[in-house]
Amino acid sequence: MERDLSLDIVRVTEYAALASARWTGKGNKHSADEAATSAMRSLFSSISFRGTVVIGEGEMDEAPMLYIGEAVGNGTGPEYDVAVDPLEGTDIVASGRNNALSVVAIAEKGNLLHAPDMYMEKLAVGPRLAGQLNLDDSLENTIRKAAVILQKDLTEMSVSILDRKRHADKILLLRMLGVKIHLLSDGDVAGAMAAAFPEAGIDIHIGSGGAPEGVLAAAALRCMGGEFQGRLLPENEEEKQRCIKMGIIDPSKVLGMRDLVGESDIYFAATGVTSGDFLSGVKFLTGNRAETHSVVMRAKTQTVRFIQCVHQTYEYQLGSA
Ligand code: FBP
Repeated sequence: MERDLSLDIVRVTEYAALASARWTGKGNKHSADEAATSAMRSLFSSISFRGTVVIGEGEMDEAPMLYIGEAVGNGTGPEYDVAVDPLEGTDIVASGRNNALSVVAIAEKGNLLHAPDMYMEKLAVGPRLAGQLNLDDSLENTIRKAAVILQKDLTEMSVSILDRKRHADKILLLRMLGVKIHLLSDGDVAGAMAAAFPEAGIDIHIGSGGAPEGVLAAAALRCMGGEFQGRLLPENEEEKQRCIKMGIIDPSKVLGMRDLVGESDIYFAATGVTSGDFLSGVKFLTGNRAETHSVVMRAKTQTVRFIQCVHQTYEYQLGSA
């Protein structure tokens, strides 16, 4: 990847975030998602590249826009694989809570795992713990080992996990160990990324969430020198077959960074829709202006840029809420 795509892709996430933020707190996750998806898709068409969506809004027959296999970009220039989540945290926006993002990752063809739409067991850490832990290890050993490496007492360790019934055993164990638990209502891409931002105060992200979100989180963590491990959790024979069809012969295998996001260069951008642990959300200002906060990163150079931008929103067709 020779051309620097940072500013191109951050404009895409900014535009999607601006569109969906209009729906914050309005109890309508479908409209919030649709606004983000349609804005993202239209901005992609202004970028000179030939992209193929490999992680998107769903299969062609179930998603009208940004579906898996859809061609994006203006049809000229280099070929890339594209992973998108125009609105990561649809319920978050609908209910006006924290940590919703608009997210895009772009990599050279064949590098992003075409993750099936099912759950994935996850382990995400920042640079200090990268290469040190293993998803196959027990949770207790993982936390104890991480505490030793970080030279922290167990009571100073901070772990994030989605607040779900299926995580009850893990949460109970973490409570018994005395670690601080950061329970996420939704949004485990932000949850995983937070482990690599020291200011977010999260040491490890664990638990299961969407597999496509896992690939996006892995892309971000590769740009930040962190690590993500995942294990697909097919719940029935049909889901097992879907894994096999996508080239994952043994679904119980722990997928590492190379399996998830390959070794090519990656560009990753995220814009805050609502405020979160490391990005502020969209702020609508007076005079048709709005402010966005984004992070855009590149794997090859591990550059992490924070971009605060004031937009004249009349330039955008944001739809009305
Ligand atoms: P959506 O934006 O698609 O609603 O996803 C939000 C999310 O919290 C993801 O971050 C996470 O991976 C997944 O849902 C978890 O799924 P579930 O709500 O079924 O536990």
